[in-house]
Amino acid sequence: MYGKVITCAAALAVLICVGAPMVSADERTPPYTIENGKVDKGTYNGYRRYASTCHVCHGPDGLGSSFAPALADSLKLISYEDFVSTVAGGRQSNIGGVLRVMPAWANNPDVMDYIDDIYGYLKARADGVLPPGRPTRIGE
Ligand code: HEC
Repeated sequence: MYGKVITCAAALAVLICVGAPMVSADERTPPYTIENGKVDKGTYNGYRRYASTCHVCHGPDGLGSSFAPALADSLKLISYEDFVSTVAGGRQSNIGGVLRVMPAWANNPDVMDYIDDIYGYLKARADGVLPPGRPTRIGE
């Protein structure tokens, strides 16, 4: 009897360990730090990367344009994994003859090397904790 209990506990521990990586850390703790309205280095870098690469289609501050969706809204709905796979693989739709194309960024290190920073910046915008505009870095 005692032996069975131990086996169950061990089996449970294995399940928890195996299950842990399935839940992205970003679902639990915010992928950004904001103190007194100022942001960490990664979030600031995300803002810069967004502004140089994504802004042209997705509009300023993640607010969207007539061509591409507002990522500040999208990130309320899509998971970190979906975000990364969409950015890497691109996406397109053709609704009523209107073709919308999201390029694939998988081969662009200026995007993929900083994908977590871009995600953190957009998540802060989606969570409503970061106002529009150029953020200030903590310590400045
Ligand atoms: C050339 C224009 C263009 C650029 C540049 C661009 N996107 Fe997009 N993106 C789009 C379009 C258009 C869509 C919607 C495609 C569709 O209708 O399926 C989209 C969709 C997305 C989605 C899915 C949104 C949702 O609600 O499901 C994500 C995430 C995304 N883009 C992230 C980015 C990021 C991050 C960057 C910068 C690295 C970027 N995009 C740069 C045009 C662009």
